[in-house]
Amino acid sequence: MQAKRIEPDRIELQKGMAQEVADRIEGRGKTYYIETYGCQMNVRDSETIAGMLQQMGYSPADAKETANVILFNTCCVRDHAEKRLLANIGALKERKEADPELILGICGCMMQQPDVAKKVMRRFPFVNFVFGTNVLWRLPELMLSVLNGERLILTEEEGFAICEGLPARRSNPFSAFVNITFGCDNYCSYCIVPYVRGRERSRSLEEVVAEVRDLSDRGITEVTLLGQNVNSYGKGMGEDFADLLHAVNGVDGIRRIRYMSSHPKDLTPRLMFAIAENDKVCHHMHLPVQSGSTVILERMNRRYTREGYLKLVDDLRRTVPDIELTTDVIVGFPGETDRDFEDTLSLMEQVGYSAAFTFKYSPRKGTRAAEAADQLPEAVKRERLKLLNELQARKIAENNMKYLGHRGEVLVEGFDRRQETILFGKLDTFKMVYFPGDEKLLGTYQRVKVTQCARNSLLGRME
Ligand code: SAH
Ligand code: SF4
Ligand code: F3S
Repeated sequence: MQAKRIEPDRIELQKGMAQEVADRIEGRGKTYYIETYGCQMNVRDSETIAGMLQQMGYSPADAKETANVILFNTCCVRDHAEKRLLANIGALKERKEADPELILGICGCMMQQPDVAKKVMRRFPFVNFVFGTNVLWRLPELMLSVLNGERLILTEEEGFAICEGLPARRSNPFSAFVNITFGCDNYCSYCIVPYVRGRERSRSLEEVVAEVRDLSDRGITEVTLLGQNVNSYGKGMGEDFADLLHAVNGVDGIRRIRYMSSHPKDLTPRLMFAIAENDKVCHHMHLPVQSGSTVILERMNRRYTREGYLKLVDDLRRTVPDIELTTDVIVGFPGETDRDFEDTLSLMEQVGYSAAFTFKYSPRKGTRAAEAADQLPEAVKRERLKLLNELQARKIAENNMKYLGHRGEVLVEGFDRRQETILFGKLDTFKMVYFPGDEKLLGTYQRVKVTQCARNSLLGRME
């Protein structure tokens, strides 16, 4: 099914309003600062926000302290992200008193929840505007209203649609995020994302490829295809994620294709072959398992079993032998017993992930798991997280050992902040290697040999 789209003339209208803002602030040297929380979706959205603000005549501020517009792009996937945000907004009260012209806006997933948006507006009267993820494209209109002295909330009026043709200020000159799907239909019982990002919708294959081509023309060589569940790309549209990988693989100038996240329930043999066959597709998959216990997976509504997941891993490693896997794990889900938790530990032991993001279960209002009666005490969650992290640290060290003497190509991404002569870059498998070199090599591909394995990282030299 083709997703609903915002009509191009409505975007044109916004462009007109962006120009109006630009005329209003012209010559006044106004700057913006965006603070981004959460996942890659928000990082990518912040690039669009930055692009729109530049269209409105604002330029990037050197620091938050000197910015004339401050935007917080929020996340609500766990309690922790919310607490941090509220403290950071509160800290701006004095600044706003000293400079009433400062424009403060809050957007992103947390603001897509109408009750939370209202609460934030009430609690922080110095915030100028709040808007949800579904109206990102209306930022020029919002900014114009704010300049006219209004204070506003925009979260509920629109459904979720696809919006093409917005500007973006990309944060990295050689590697770029490319949205392929928005939203999520999976309703894992713990997760707020489907509620704050809407139903899953896919961009057309032509539009994705056109964007990748355009990025390549501008010097980008690595793209990361983004979606909450990239494997279900194109559902009901005739073309699937394997087709998309083939198509993007054909774009000249692109050397690496990454993608995230993958949902195990939609990882087909066809997709495994597409990864193996297309030379630019990197040998790394982020394949969140969430739990190693079939009972808990069932309660999480993940729609696979422990055995099913392990079989997928086997099949995948048979099809793409050197593929590295990373994962997300939740401990302390309601009703998780010691046995269930041990199943998670043993699965981690067996799979041997090269990295894992581990979380304590955090009840999210409105989700099914938050209503469960058998919530676990904080102390149990904390203890389990500690045990899991210890195991994972050992597995990372073990996994790193296999890279000793390994030769491969890295894309040079940056240099060590403390030692500018040490560069770092990632292998195809997403493993980071540190090695001596010159800053001039940023953005280039270099062959390296791994000579040393530290606890968390690989050290090497150029060949
Ligand atoms: N769509 C992606 C992940 C989105 S959220 C996927 O399905 O893989 C990123 C991670 O946050 C999830 O994989 C999960 O491990 C974690 N997470 C989501 N909701 C959570 C909650 N209520 N408590 C703790 N962790 C949660
Ligand atoms: Fe959340 Fe599950 Fe969708 Fe991932 S797949 S975003 S965990 S509901
Ligand atoms: Fe957070 Fe929204 Fe991503 S809730 S994890 S920023 S989709």
